[in-house]
Amino acid sequence: MIEGAGVNVHRTIGTPALRNLDPFIMLDHFGSSDPDQYIAGFPDHPHRGFITLTYILDGHMLHQDSMGNKGDLKAGGIQWMKAASGVIHSEIPQQTKGLMRGFQLWINLPATEKMTDPNYQEFSAAAIPIVEQNDATVRVISGSYGNYKGPIEDPNTNVHYLDVALLPRANFSYELPETMTAFIYPYQGNGKIANTTVPTHTLACLSSDERFEVSATDELRFILVAGRPIGEPIVQYGPFVMSSREEIEQAVNDYHDGTFVRTKARWVSD
Ligand code: CO
Repeated sequence: MIEGAGVNVHRTIGTPALRNLDPFIMLDHFGSSDPDQYIAGFPDHPHRGFITLTYILDGHMLHQDSMGNKGDLKAGGIQWMKAASGVIHSEIPQQTKGLMRGFQLWINLPATEKMTDPNYQEFSAAAIPIVEQNDATVRVISGSYGNYKGPIEDPNTNVHYLDVALLPRANFSYELPETMTAFIYPYQGNGKIANTTVPTHTLACLSSDERFEVSATDELRFILVAGRPIGEPIVQYGPFVMSSREEIEQAVNDYHDGTFVRTKARWVSD
């Protein structure tokens, strides 16, 4: 589908087939070797009531918000932006050597956190642990893998986010630390869970209490994401994700009145 000012994305969570997957609201995978498919990016737009988690695989992303924060998220880097009470920002993807690929995941916030102050955590590739094991390479972005811990802290839903690369016929097994919503999404190659093939650009939801194993039919790269469900009503209107219709109306009115952004964000980075 087309988002922003003409950016082609593969969207899985946040479509009519899967409105949300508590605590996840949306998953977009963007990537193209044709700059015309993304170069206009996402000019100024608002977010309220949730977190955006952006992971850049190739290329980089210029971003700037209405509170004066500004940055350039490089390849392998990750940005956790708690929009909470409101952020208006722009995100402009840039290619490096003809490549631009990445993900944006929207994580919901509990009702008590939705109108709190915005907050950023941003880390470069160098801050993300890489675990090499047999024929697997695992980048630990958030949560843990073995004794390794990712730099992003997500206090409300304890999000685990791993980027896994497997050589052909290699296996990867994982056990969730607690009851969580979990999925894998292959973005290169095809995977297999039990006897089911999971093709590229397909979301596979995992049942939470089990240890599961992913095997690579060919060279495989996928993200594994898990988080604690919030279990509250979700009322979404585009970039506003609140708990009631009244709160959505408030967000729309604030945006039109110019009172949307309430406070400057806190910034943590490596
Ligand atoms: Co945005």
